[in-house]
Amino acid sequence: MKQLLMTTGPTNVPKRILNVMTKPMIHHRTDEFHKLYDDIQEKLKYLYKTGNDIYISTSSGTGGVEILASNFANKRVLVIDNGEYSHRMYEAFLIYGAKAVKLSEEWGKPIEKDVVDDYLKKYNDEIDIVAMVHNETSTGVRNPLEGIAEVAKKYGKLIFTDSTSSIGGDYVETDKWDLDMVVGRTQKCLACPPGLAFVSVSNKVWKYITKEGIRTFYFDINKFRDFHKKSEVPFTPPISLLYALDEGLDMLKEEGLENRIKRHLECSQHLRRCIKKMKMDLVVKNDYYASRTATAIYINESAKLRSILKEKYNIVISGSPGKFKGKVIRIATMGSITKNKVDRTLDALEKSLQELNEIKV
Ligand SMILES: Cc1ncc(COP(=O)(O)O)c(C=O)c1O
Repeated sequence: MKQLLMTTGPTNVPKRILNVMTKPMIHHRTDEFHKLYDDIQEKLKYLYKTGNDIYISTSSGTGGVEILASNFANKRVLVIDNGEYSHRMYEAFLIYGAKAVKLSEEWGKPIEKDVVDDYLKKYNDEIDIVAMVHNETSTGVRNPLEGIAEVAKKYGKLIFTDSTSSIGGDYVETDKWDLDMVVGRTQKCLACPPGLAFVSVSNKVWKYITKEGIRTFYFDINKFRDFHKKSEVPFTPPISLLYALDEGLDMLKEEGLENRIKRHLECSQHLRRCIKKMKMDLVVKNDYYASRTATAIYINESAKLRSILKEKYNIVISGSPGKFKGKVIRIATMGSITKNKVDRTLDALEKSLQELNEIKV
């Protein structure tokens, strides 16, 4: 049976996308490239629901977050912290010298907008930027981005979001919610191979950019802007991945963003319903805050379970990073996900759990 990736990235890449990666190389300072770049730009704007520029970075998602952290070294940042990826974001800001503070919540719980409001009411003069992870993939929590953005704006702050595991699978309304920097990427809900991240940038951001705040050569936001004007990126891009992205974005347009979001919602809800029926222990109890792209479940012996799923059923699911390591499994509903793929996973999961219990007896 064909391998099924139910991991939180990379996800299964459709043949149509893999095929375009074998197209001949083009040079990145030519008109052919400019056309490819402009086409991708237009399609990314559809994904992001924005008129803002979107810069493309040769990196995984962490590289996208690094663009946020490395260009604002002299700013004061409030990081919403309730999982591994938001914690990494906080550390990235600190490493580059920003005055970063955390507003923390227990893993598995969302941060409510009122908590952010209370914080900003008290410390309004000490914060320039609110930064957060929209969909905390490490715990399966869907943080209320819209509400937190509204609060950030009420206090006149910039709002930055790592939406790498939500964009394309959940609502990310860049313009409507006035999001200043939004990080997205290829390998999750777009079902493309890993290797590219994107960052949208609002006009307001430029007022916060200073020479002293930039602590990076490769990810310098001014370079991205200068090259973007020429429909180029600052350094040699992975052309084959751009072909893949272009095709992946065509597939998104053909399906329609709204339909794709609905498909993610239906698959994740179906998965949650069945997990509850199986009496397994979901990390996120409240459906409202449950991610539409990653479902986390407490389980003893997570490594053994994952290995049975792989060896016997050729299905790969994710373990968990950070403090959930070894205690939590994560099943993704991302990209080319269908109800059939969820059902195949659930069936195998049930059998693997039985087997695990038999081994223990
Ligand atoms: C929300 C989020 N941010 C950042 C990352 C880190 O991504 P990468 O390891 O591809 O750099 C992940 C990985 O799954 C993620 O889900």
